[in-house]
Amino acid sequence: MGEKVKLEFGGKPSEYPVLSGTVGPDVIDIRKLYGATGAFTYDPGFTSTASCQSALTYIDGDAGVLLHRGYPIDQLAERSSFMEVAYLLLNGELPAKANLEAFSRTITRHTMVHEQLASFYAGFRRDAHPMAIMCGVVGALSAFYPDSTDINDPKQRMISAHRLIAKMPTIAAMAYKYSIGQPFLYPRNDLSYTGNFLRMTFGVPAEEYEIDPVVEAAMDKIFILHADHEQNASTSTVRLAGSSGANPFACIAAGIACLWGPAHGGANEAALNMLREIGTPDRIPEYIARAKNKDDPFRLMGFGHRVYKNYDPRATVLAKAATEVLDKLGISDPVLDTARELERIALTDPYFIDKKLYPNVDFYSGVILSAIGFPTTMFTVLFALARTVGWVSQWIEMISDPEQKIGRPRQLYMGPAQRDYIDLANR
Ligand code: ACO
Repeated sequence: MGEKVKLEFGGKPSEYPVLSGTVGPDVIDIRKLYGATGAFTYDPGFTSTASCQSALTYIDGDAGVLLHRGYPIDQLAERSSFMEVAYLLLNGELPAKANLEAFSRTITRHTMVHEQLASFYAGFRRDAHPMAIMCGVVGALSAFYPDSTDINDPKQRMISAHRLIAKMPTIAAMAYKYSIGQPFLYPRNDLSYTGNFLRMTFGVPAEEYEIDPVVEAAMDKIFILHADHEQNASTSTVRLAGSSGANPFACIAAGIACLWGPAHGGANEAALNMLREIGTPDRIPEYIARAKNKDDPFRLMGFGHRVYKNYDPRATVLAKAATEVLDKLGISDPVLDTARELERIALTDPYFIDKKLYPNVDFYSGVILSAIGFPTTMFTVLFALARTVGWVSQWIEMISDPEQKIGRPRQLYMGPAQRDYIDLANR
């Protein structure tokens, strides 16, 4: 028999099993708590709650470790490709050469979107935020691929995963093209996943687009670093939406909506805007002081993380990549100097040390994306593109899990107790 946790509540004892994962903290299985005690647990923000079992991603926030299917993120970022990481997350193992080729071919051959989908874009104002467009257009995919909405068929689940991974770059590039008034470009099957996305984004029909291998490699690395991140807010949103049996396109649209928030995926846009606002390293102390002031809602964007109480390992990879990309592209951006100096000052300040606030993935990604030529409004779109791999992998894992139930949290009710209705004339 494994370890049990004993609880006494209302004079009644009850016991709860302790479950152990492969690595990481044990969890106390409280599924029978309400039945045994009549009480719920209270955990706003789910800071102490494991909502599911998962074999995809492991994070040790204190040690700054991130593993996908057991492989460390820095090894994947340095030696793998986004297609390979997508295969790994979806299927559980690194692909053999032939498997990777077959997978890449499948993804490549699903990159086109239904021609009618293009008319959706015209319904948005030109100045619409591309994330607003993404929420709508990705949700609309379910109207075009009704066969993929049969979530009980494992084959259809995998087909919808392939469709989503394949079509996201096309949809994202179209959102960008629409915002700048340029024609949409069709995908090209002779290009890599990332190369194809860059061409659809920055190419024009009037001339050939030359893919810069430095930019292609940096973009691919950014996609790898954003592919999955355990049960974060948007992934939990996808799982919660999917727990009711909703189709995968609707679930991913829900994930995109959640990701948009500045406390989550929107932070990369906010981080670069903040660095630009600071402008020069001499103004950093002013902003550090504001971040520390309890009466000022300002926070250092790109700093702090719910799980990492150490350097976000993705930020380590990106800090190095930012220097490499800017050097190779011959760009000198004062924003990078400001970022480095802000990091240096914050990491020596007792406020940030005591609260264990370190740069997160969003701190340096914006500097690289801006150097590549993306406007800030596209940053979260790129995040959504990459995270689609994690979202669909987690969604498939959830649907296949025999312990899966519809997500239905309870509450601590603080409203009025029952009272009688008073007619309008008597109020
Ligand atoms: N700047 C200044 N102070 C901060 C910051 C920050 N960026 N982040 C946290 N703190 C302080 C809080 O004020 C709080 O102080 P207190 O204990 O005196 O009240 C303490 O550190 C703990 O912060 P919480 O907000 O309670 O921690 P939580 O885990 O809920 O928040 C979050 C994590 C939302 C990421 C937060 O650090 C934040 O807002 N960061 C800036 C936004 C950002 O970069 N988000 C990207 C996250 S990564 C991603 O989504 C890919």
